Amino acid sequence: MKNHQLPQLPYKLSALAPYISEKTMEYHYGKHLQTYLTNLNSLIVNTPFVDSSLEEIVKRADGAIFNNAAQAWNHIFFFESLGHKPQEAPTGVLLEAIELSFGSFGSMKEQMSKAAVSQFGSGWAWLVVKGNELEIVTTSNAATPMREGRTPVLCIDVWEHAYYLDYQNRRADFIAAVWQVVDWKKIEDRYSIAIMGR
Ligand SMILES: [Fe+2]
Repeated sequence: MKNHQLPQLPYKLSALAPYISEKTMEYHYGKHLQTYLTNLNSLIVNTPFVDSSLEEIVKRADGAIFNNAAQAWNHIFFFESLGHKPQEAPTGVLLEAIELSFGSFGSMKEQMSKAAVSQFGSGWAWLVVKGNELEIVTTSNAATPMREGRTPVLCIDVWEHAYYLDYQNRRADFIAAVWQVVDWKKIEDRYSIAIMGR
């Protein structure tokens, strides 16, 4: 039986401050993400998903198993998008793709921020690869663009638990802060993998 565990992050929980506080990380990574993983591990017992990878479960499961697996996957993807002293802007083929799809890096950030602020209730804003283009989409609750054949390269968590301790109801301030800690090297690596073999 597979035991889905908290991944080690490549930075300390205090490393994203002042943009994302250590306290928020202790709750968000240490408690919210841990709870999704704990729930998932008990839900998959005696199901066809008992030995499946997290990604396989996200692609095929429904109901509570999907919700907990997708929330675990989305959070790991979000936390792994961030970094301490991150690469501040995209370069190379990712920058070219952003310019092609959105005009400029600034315009991409503006469009994704707007989508993230406008997502009603809990959910996620995503930068995804669709064919040869990049696209911004939002999803509700645990939903993921992977189920619609898109490959994500970046996501922003807009569940209230992501920002309430630091920013209370000011979601837009949290999103502006996230841009300060996105590690664009990581996003470039994901993009390169996504377009490989085309
Ligand atoms: Fe979250």
